[in-house]
Amino acid sequence: MFSLKMLPLLLLFCMQLSRAFPVPSESTEEKNIEVVQNYLEKFYQLPRNRYQSERKKSTSAIVEKLKEMQQFFGLKVTGKPDKETLEMMEKPRCGVPDGGDFMLTPGHPKWEQTNLTYRITDYTSQLPKADVETLIEEAFKVWSRVSPLTFTKLTEGEADITIAFVQGDHGDNSPFDGPNGILAHAFQPGPGIGGDAHFDAEETWTTTSENYHLFPVAAHEFGHSLGLSHSSDPGALMYPTYAYSDPKTFLLPQDDINGIQALYGPSSNPVQPTGPTTPTACDPRLTFDAITTLRGEILFFKDKFFWRKHPQLQNVELNFISLFWPSLPNGIQAAYEDFDKDLIFLFKGNQYWALNGYNIQQGYPKNISNYGFPSSVQAIDAAVFYRTKTYFFVNNQFWSYDNEKQSMEPGYPKSIESTFAGIGNRVDAVFQKDHFFLFFSETRYYKFDLNTQSITQIDRSNKWLNCR
Ligand SMILES: *[C@@H]1O[C@H](CO)[C@@H](O)[C@H](O)[C@H]1NC(C)=O
Ligand SMILES: *[C@@H]1O[C@H](CO)[C@@H](O)[C@H](O)[C@H]1NC(C)=O
Ligand SMILES: [Zn+2]
Ligand SMILES: [Zn+2]
Repeated sequence: MFSLKMLPLLLLFCMQLSRAFPVPSESTEEKNIEVVQNYLEKFYQLPRNRYQSERKKSTSAIVEKLKEMQQFFGLKVTGKPDKETLEMMEKPRCGVPDGGDFMLTPGHPKWEQTNLTYRITDYTSQLPKADVETLIEEAFKVWSRVSPLTFTKLTEGEADITIAFVQGDHGDNSPFDGPNGILAHAFQPGPGIGGDAHFDAEETWTTTSENYHLFPVAAHEFGHSLGLSHSSDPGALMYPTYAYSDPKTFLLPQDDINGIQALYGPSSNPVQPTGPTTPTACDPRLTFDAITTLRGEILFFKDKFFWRKHPQLQNVELNFISLFWPSLPNGIQAAYEDFDKDLIFLFKGNQYWALNGYNIQQGYPKNISNYGFPSSVQAIDAAVFYRTKTYFFVNNQFWSYDNEKQSMEPGYPKSIESTFAGIGNRVDAVFQKDHFFLFFSETRYYKFDLNTQSITQIDRSNKWLNCR
């Protein structure tokens, strides 16, 4: 049953990729070699060989570069173009290569002065001029908030950072590639073209969660304009692939703050700004916000990320929530899968969302008071579905909601201790597997057998993410 249910999500994911990147059906393998070679030439300095015969000879160079790329993205280092590697190569990204282990551009070029100027010389017809100007200003603020840098807009004359929407070959030896693929690029600090940022005019630029929001792309490119190169921290702004973020709620990650301050020193603000750090699966202090199954996979939510674990695959994938569901907030607090309706429900504060795979159902978010909670309940710690009932955990109590009668069962809330003795008096996350509830509390999980009403296993939470 699980394996059948699993299919739609995987298919959806493939469809999503292939919609953006159509692959001709003839020879997939040859096409893949082409994709790999082009990618490594563009982003990993694989020497360009014009002729087929030359290409064949350079297999070992390709394997080495492929390993370098896999290492950078934290993929399994196989030297082979496996599925995960190809998926990564198909993601929309920045055009600047991923060279080097460090976030600073080799040679550490930086601006001598901290009062920089910028000028937008070519706009996109897809967005009102005023929107472009606002988002560019917001993108510069990302960096000025955490450093001594200031940015002044010019409307004429030569600026340090020239910003332009251009397409195809635009005279800097780094042609754009039309929709998707490379979205933008920027040059390291220096005179002339140094510091300049170019955006592919053939992308669909937006101010919404639809691809591609100008703000995160511009903020990323200006990182290059200031002297940063790509980070391998998947949560960093300077990670090479596109991730949607809303300028209203965006916080510059700590990795990027460290990078810019290494070049220009701390902010002049007496209170030094700090930013979010990317959770690491095997951090012994790791806790989860929420966990749910989804058609046979398990999703572990943490801040703006979730890990996706497929029962048949060794790899656990860290993703942005915004990549899958752009309109959802970060910091999901509880989640469950309703197997009867094939929906997952996500909770934050007194709001909740129903999702069918990638699609948020109409009419959401709704208010948790719909479930019959009293107004004293303003947030849910954890939720799980079992045999038509949904169990909600709030502080040291739990509630049982009857999905058939569409009402809370009488006699609730009960204390957690009365029914699930031994799991502690607060639950961070819970999900159901066979006749077990897997409760997560701080850094531990408790496997609770629903038949015998007892705990059968206690261990470290992140064993679920394949950590030893
Ligand atoms: C930046 O500051 C320097 C030194 O104070 C000054 O000479 C220069 O004109 C300033 N540049 C801009 C664009 O304000
Ligand atoms: C949700 O409902 C409760 C109780 O009716 C109310 O106090 C609260 O303001 C509502 N919240 C939102 C976001 O509508
Ligand atoms: Zn970049
Ligand atoms: Zn360019």
